[in-house]
Amino acid sequence: MKTYRSRVAGTGSYLPPDLITNADLEKLVDTNDQWIRERTGINHRHKAAADQATSDIAYEASILAIKDAGLEISDIDCILVATVSPDYLTPSTSCVMQARLGLNGVPALDLNAACSGFVYGLSVADAYIRMGMYKNILLVGAELLTRYVNYKDREVCILFGDGAGAWVIQQTDAAAEDVIYSSHLRAEGSLGDLFIRRAGGTRLPITQKEIDEGTHWFTMKGRDIYKNAVRTMSATCTQALEANDLKMDQIDWLIPHQANWRIMEAVADHFKFPKEKVISVVHEMGNTSAATVPVAFDMARKDGRVKRGQMILLTAFGAGLTAGSAVLKF
Ligand code: ACO
Repeated sequence: MKTYRSRVAGTGSYLPPDLITNADLEKLVDTNDQWIRERTGINHRHKAAADQATSDIAYEASILAIKDAGLEISDIDCILVATVSPDYLTPSTSCVMQARLGLNGVPALDLNAACSGFVYGLSVADAYIRMGMYKNILLVGAELLTRYVNYKDREVCILFGDGAGAWVIQQTDAAAEDVIYSSHLRAEGSLGDLFIRRAGGTRLPITQKEIDEGTHWFTMKGRDIYKNAVRTMSATCTQALEANDLKMDQIDWLIPHQANWRIMEAVADHFKFPKEKVISVVHEMGNTSAATVPVAFDMARKDGRVKRGQMILLTAFGAGLTAGSAVLKF
């Protein structure tokens, strides 16, 4: 049986133009610009227009990624969308996207692994391609988190924004060097309560009571998530390095999930990795969950930091709790 590997053929990202600044949040909750910057690194977040849904921003990022890969839309033979903020509970956001892209018949699948969603999706895309199932997979991380944020909850509302990032993952020769080397995933479902949108599913349908109690908003135990984020991202990075017989000094860029600059710093410190080699764009977009890794990657490409031929280590953590890492040569 012929074997294949996968490579990142193209990337794209889209952040809606409207901003929520720290000054805007000061008017809504008891917080201040200095606290937000010092504790998170975030200056502003992006907010989608009222008539935009997740598939709309996912579409914008996807078109850019397909163009960047030098492909036509019709070359895409599988669509994966990682999101916790879908257009609808059903049909999936990937199916909505598929219709908009005019790709009738092409398989379309949503994944929910929260902020780890893109890394989870990357592992699925890589496995599909290694098995020879598809040649050009469109993988998108897209979120409209501002729709689920309670702007009376100061711990949560300062963190989240909207955005989308997309990659085309392409089949390549088994001997190629610019490939996805590995992905490592983990989950700890017993810690699911640390970040939860309690109402809106089958366990707790939305009723007036739930709306009055605010259980349809994201709720979070921030400090516990912080500790688990550092622990699990460090652990999955170690797995990635060991599996590929790599040392941290062989990594050109560490691209972690963009939740809080202090979390990224702590992971870098764990490996004594230079902070200048950690891609952080959290200051200009906040936490966009499944979108942060592909958006950060794309922004760092556009500003000239990430280049072809470099070794990249991705890592993410999220609600679930989930976590993961991936190593690739771009
Ligand atoms: N402005 C001012 N003060 C605040 C704010 C705010 N926005 N939020 C909390 N505080 C206060 C707290 O009430 C507390 O006050 P106290 O000392 O009087 O009790 C104080 O600041 C310190 O609070 P901590 O929670 O200890 O602050 P910390 O340094 O941990 O920062 C933060 C909080 C930013 C939430 C941090 O813990 C964090 O980033 N956690 C990770 C969150 C995350 O990544 N969530 C998303 C992942 S899940 C997903 O998949 C979507």
